[in-house]
Order: sequence, then C-alpha cells, then structure tokens
Amino acid sequence: MPDTDGPTRHPDTPAARPAPGTPPAPDPGTPPLPGAGLIPAPLSIDAAPGGAVRLGPDTALAAAPGTEDTAHWLRATLGDAYGLPLPPGSADATDTLALALDAALPAEGYRLEADARWGVRITGGGPAGVFWGAQTLRQLLGPHAFRRAPLTPGRPAVLPQLTVEDGPRFGWRGMLLDVARHFLPKDGVLRYLDLLAAHKLNVLHLHLTDDQGWRLEIRRYPKLAGTGSWRARTKLGHRASPLWDERPHGGHYTQDDIREIVAYAARRHITVVPEIDVPGHSQAAIAAYPELGNTDVIDTTSLQVWDTWGVNPNVLAPTDTALRFYEHVLEEVLELFPSRFVHIGGDECPKDQWRASATAQARIAELSLAGEDELQSWFIRHFDRWLADRGRRLIGWDEILEGGLAEGAAVSSWRGYAGGVAAAKSGHDVVMCPEQQVYLDHRQDPSPEEPVPIGYVRTLEDVYRFEPVPPELTAEQAAHVLGTQANAWTEVMDSQQRLDYQVFPRLSAFAEVAWSRLPAPADRDYQDFTRRMAAHYGRLDALGVDYRPPGGPRPWQKRPGVLGRPIDGAPPNV
Ligand code: ACM
Repeated sequence: MPDTDGPTRHPDTPAARPAPGTPPAPDPGTPPLPGAGLIPAPLSIDAAPGGAVRLGPDTALAAAPGTEDTAHWLRATLGDAYGLPLPPGSADATDTLALALDAALPAEGYRLEADARWGVRITGGGPAGVFWGAQTLRQLLGPHAFRRAPLTPGRPAVLPQLTVEDGPRFGWRGMLLDVARHFLPKDGVLRYLDLLAAHKLNVLHLHLTDDQGWRLEIRRYPKLAGTGSWRARTKLGHRASPLWDERPHGGHYTQDDIREIVAYAARRHITVVPEIDVPGHSQAAIAAYPELGNTDVIDTTSLQVWDTWGVNPNVLAPTDTALRFYEHVLEEVLELFPSRFVHIGGDECPKDQWRASATAQARIAELSLAGEDELQSWFIRHFDRWLADRGRRLIGWDEILEGGLAEGAAVSSWRGYAGGVAAAKSGHDVVMCPEQQVYLDHRQDPSPEEPVPIGYVRTLEDVYRFEPVPPELTAEQAAHVLGTQANAWTEVMDSQQRLDYQVFPRLSAFAEVAWSRLPAPADRDYQDFTRRMAAHYGRLDALGVDYRPPGGPRPWQKRPGVLGRPIDGAPPNV
C-alpha cells in the first residue's frame, strides 16, 4: 500500500545491478532477507531496507498484452489464498501488481520489483519469464500463499521490499512421471503440473506405455486402452518379492483428458513430452494386438499385460505391420501433443526373440544390417525420419546410440553420463538424467525403514550436488546439453502418497540444480539450501505434499515386510 505518491513508477534498474545471466557477487554482509528462502535460488536478491509490501482488497492487477496467462493464474491462486479480487488496473497507478514484458531480458528471465509505495512489478523477457516471476512472488508471500482459501479473512498478502533478478541455467528442466507401471489418475497429473510450476520446472515427460500398461486412448486401436490398460494383479515390491497385490490395476487417459493436461500445462509454460516406448517395453501393446509381437517365436496370443517388474523379453517384431501400427498411433499422438520432441523410448530391448525369429533375420539380411543392434537402429531411424517429416524431433533413451544414432535424434542419458557425452561429442542434443544421480525411485536414506528400498542411496544432498554437464565436454559440446530431468519410475510407488514421498523433497533440490547457476558440486552451499528448505517445507505442507521428512518416514510412510532391492555399486534393474 503506498504511503506517498512518487514521481516515477518503479525506477530503472541501476547500472550496478547484474543483468540476468550474470552470477551475483557474493555479499557476506547482507543479513538474511525475511520472507525470502527462495527455491530455486534466484540470480540475485537486492533488499531495499525497511518496508513491507502489501497486496490487499484494493490492489489492482495490470497485465500487459502477452501476460494474460499469469494474470489468470495469479487471480486463481492468490485470489483463493487471500480472497483478493485483483481487479484490472493501470500499470501507472499505485497499489498495483503489474505484469510487463521486456524483450531485453532472456525469454524465461524476469525482474521482480516490490516497492512499498507502488506495489509489485514483474517484468519478463517473455510470457514464461513473467510466469516464473509470479512463482517467486508466491514464494515470497510465505506458505499461506500456497493454500486454497484464506485461513483468516482479510489477512493481507505481505512480502519484503526487494528486487529479484533471475533466469534459468537450462531450457529443459524436467521430470518424468511413469504412469504406466502405476496409473496416476488425471487429477494427480494436474496436481504434479502445479508442483512442477511451483519449482520453475518446465517439462513433464509422460511415460505412457510399458509392459505393465498402456495409458493413452488411441481411437484407431481401442484395445490398447482396453485390454492393454489393466492387469489382473501386481507384484508387490521388487520382482523377487513373494507378495502380490491381487487387485486388478489399471486406468487410462482419454484423448480429452490429454487435451486438458496439455492445455493446463501450457498455461503454466510446461511442455508435456509424450513417450511411446518401442521396440521394447511393449508387452501391454502385444497383449492387446498379438500381431505386433514375434509370432514366429512365441504364441503372442497367450500374453497378458505384465504383472511383475524387470526387463521383458516380449518385444515388437521388426515388421511392416508393427511400423504401420505405430505410425498410426503416433499420428494421434501428434494431434494431441504439440511438443517439438516426441520420446520413442528405445531402452532395454532384449534381442533374443529377434535372434530366434526367421522374420527378423530375413529383415536383417534384406537390409544388409550387421546384426540385431542395427535392426534396433533401423527401427528407431524409421521413426526419426517419420517425425522429422512432420516437423517434430525424436528423443530416446541412450540405447538408441547402439548401432548408430538416428539423424537429428536427441538422447535421454540414463545409464550414466557416458551416453550423453558420446551423443554431445557427435553433435546430438542431450537431456541428462543419469540413474546414478536423479532416479527418484531410488531410496533416499540407508535406513531399512525406507519404504520398499531399491537402488542406490541418493540423499537430498546427493541430488543437490548433481551436476548435469560433465567436465569432459568442451563449451561447444556442452551447448548440446539441453538440460536435465529427474525420473520417477513407479514400480514400487503405487499411490500418489508413495510418489510424493519419493519425489519430495529431492525434486526441490533438483529444481535448483536445473534452474540456478550453482558452483561446482563440491563448492555448493548445502547448509544454505537446507536453511531455505526450512521455509520450503512450509510451502510443501500447505500444498499437501506427503514428502519424506528430514528425520525419516512417518509411520504410515513405511512399508514393513515389502521386499526392495537395496544395492550399492551395480545397476538396480528393478
Ligand atoms: C530406463 O530407466 N529404462 C530408461
């Protein structure tokens, strides 16, 4: 609320202030800023001593053209949390929340100025920058801003007087959600989009198909989301566990659900990258359409949607039938998902059936290929060209490097850094998501109390010290690292609560790695991060996130007696 009129609206940024993209000079003399505790950390915070900035019932919202999505989002979130109407107003008036664009800033960069006299101004390089600035505003207001109704009617929204300059390190800041192993109903996906937005993450990689379920309605092939979307029972725990959940499990997204998810994401400046996994991880599709499998090797009509975990031998046949089928599937995928990148999997495709199949061997001979690895490359290259012809780009797991990388393809480097390094060195784009660092299904503490503990111990601090760009890359090669993503595979995460437990708080640390310009891993100030996390847990509480508390699982978060597979050193291969 302004107490005097001033001659100028939000003075120009002083020349001394670093431009977005420039790491701030450390200022050890600056006292902790009340209300800050931002995650991910911004490039710079410039505190203006004294005043507090209040947004109240009279505060207006002035949205310049191009900022309407953020205006809508602010009215919905702060409107609900504080009962603020935020009526339209003029950017030149006092007591205003003003949203503006300035092409001189990077597209996702922003400047947030909070001034006790004038209100708040968020200036973004593009609409996404304004939206990320609005996320910062919400964090500055405190945990109450994350609730959906006012606890105290009339309570104002208050933030400190300050200027924040900010912008992301990477353009691809993602999370993979495996909705195939355990289906996450649509509301859960929308909720995760909100959680990603709150952390300035901008890619949701949706793993829609696998041996254990097909989750996407395809009009031309209704049995995919029919037969292919449910399994009779489910292995409880690691595949070596003797336990079963005898309840059928299933579910799928209708095409309208997907349109809603994609549009909801777009309003939050998040791209949904669909994954249709081929030629491995395809038993659910083969169970629905047995002609897709290696019918000269096994009786594919006997296959059902898989009820346990691991790498599955029942892969697609390298036939024209399979190629045409998946072209038809992808035609519908392209209609639904505007994402430039389309993920076609390509991981963990055992070649035993191809070795035993006269049809596969005839194809190898016809194409003069060196063997089954090249047959896989041929399969992937087919879709690389097919997608490129339609103005899209293929991305696949790093196995697509074996037998030669398809032209224009990008790689999700999951088996460590090596695939990503090889791809970047040969001029291919890379998303770094090494399982040794950022697989969120892996346990987050060595204690046997961790629910269904699998894989490596990867603590909050380990994730905070993850570095997406390996040092052996030159600057030119490193430019091929589009960014990074954390992957939440759900074999042992059978509910939203279990998912929350594995994902949080580690996704908060990951978001800072993906957004902020952190020093080298050993030099990162983890103590400072944990101090800011103290504020952030309050936000996660208000959002209803069932995170792992720093002291370990709450009683209901444990899964006593369900076998996991804790290992050190070797790949977990759940
Ligand atoms: C993967 O984890 N199989 C990509």
